[in-house]
Amino acid sequence: MAKTTTKRRYVHGQWSNRWAFILAATGSAVGLGNIWKFPYIAGENGGGAFVLVYILCIAVIGIPIMMGEVMLGRRARQSPINTMRSLSAQEGRNGMWKYVGWMGVAAGFLILSYYSVIAGWALAYVVRTASGMFTIHTADGVANIFGEFVSDPEKLLFWHTVFMVMTVIVVARGVQHGLEKAVRFLMPALFILLLVLVGYAMNTGFFNEGLHFLFDADFSKLTGEGVLTAMGHAFFTLSLGMGAIMIYGSYLPQEASIAKTSITIGIADTVVALLAGLAIFPIVFANGLEPAAGPSLIFETLPVAFGQMPGGTLFGSLFFILLVFAAWTSAISLIEPAVAYLSENHGLDRVMSSAVIGIGVWALGILTAMSFNRWAFNFHFFGKAKENGMFDIFDILTANIMLPLGGILIALFAGWGMRRHSSQDEMQMKSIISYDVWSFIIRYVSPTLTIIILLHLFGFFDRFL
Ligand code: PFF
Repeated sequence: MAKTTTKRRYVHGQWSNRWAFILAATGSAVGLGNIWKFPYIAGENGGGAFVLVYILCIAVIGIPIMMGEVMLGRRARQSPINTMRSLSAQEGRNGMWKYVGWMGVAAGFLILSYYSVIAGWALAYVVRTASGMFTIHTADGVANIFGEFVSDPEKLLFWHTVFMVMTVIVVARGVQHGLEKAVRFLMPALFILLLVLVGYAMNTGFFNEGLHFLFDADFSKLTGEGVLTAMGHAFFTLSLGMGAIMIYGSYLPQEASIAKTSITIGIADTVVALLAGLAIFPIVFANGLEPAAGPSLIFETLPVAFGQMPGGTLFGSLFFILLVFAAWTSAISLIEPAVAYLSENHGLDRVMSSAVIGIGVWALGILTAMSFNRWAFNFHFFGKAKENGMFDIFDILTANIMLPLGGILIALFAGWGMRRHSSQDEMQMKSIISYDVWSFIIRYVSPTLTIIILLHLFGFFDRFL
């Protein structure tokens, strides 16, 4: 009996306090999405107008859904699949809601399979920067080095493997032990280093160009696909729509305010993304690089800066180390729902379940590693050329389709599925007006906007225009 209790507490531990949750959830939210992906998709979609839509999506869709997701997790305190199953039973709803949890597990699996390959690039760049490789190269040389790197499947597979092993080790040991301690100083360190980089960018002489690019909203540059990308990225960057935030919410102490914590996380995440943009675009313009370079963007720009700035080898290595840590704390949250489910329902201990899931994700990741070289193929997505076969497919499928869909369903369940007194009881908002505002947004505004943007993607409105 005593053993069972310990085991259950192991899976269903609690963060020590509200701040530990904020740090862990921020650790999940802040990752490659902020520093690698946000700058390159902003670059591909013309900057300003895209950034504005992205910020609106965070505020109007992302943060309210985050509150809903945390609320559901804390209410049931189990893995997302079992949370959805038991809440639908408690609230007298259809048992099919548990498939929202299943879709989340699938999305986490797919995302981590490519996330790990990119995190592997960052790992390789720690070693490369530390060895002083970039100090002797021009921007062109740095771009060539990157091109050679990604065309070598062995290298990509090696670093992908290292990153997956790192992830499995932490998850196997139990998230609370390693993670809570690590994020406590890693997140602030990442923040400070980003500020140092912004400081460098200010001295490139092209800071204004960077500012204009990021904040001048020229809507003629924004396409329908750009709007969808901005919305999908709001889900991706806040780790929403797949149960990661739900399971972290399930470890949140009862007395913590869900609204305040979610708003804090949303703001911190956005600030990190904007700082990354402010660090990167001035360097892009100063060196005549292409803002729409795509996934290679930070690997082609930042090493140029590190190669030139005093202490660049040190700062550069530190930066990539922190990027790896940011990716690591996100990767953990990507498989936590699946691992918790296996331990809850199939009697596997954490070590076994992490290993099983880790091996599956690793194998799937081979497709992405090969999509930058041997198995690369091109296709068009809404008129835009995509060059990296399976990587692009996984990215579009998860960020643009599965996460928004998961988000809509979570919003609908939180807003309509939960009875008013249950959600009100769990949200514990000080004023009834704030609760009503949230409830209105999550019932009507967030799902409707998300659905409109998704339907737009499928050309639904074209026939009427
Ligand atoms: N939010 C992470 C990032 O921006 O890098 C990625 C991510 C983590 C997405 C966890 C989804 C998730 F559940």
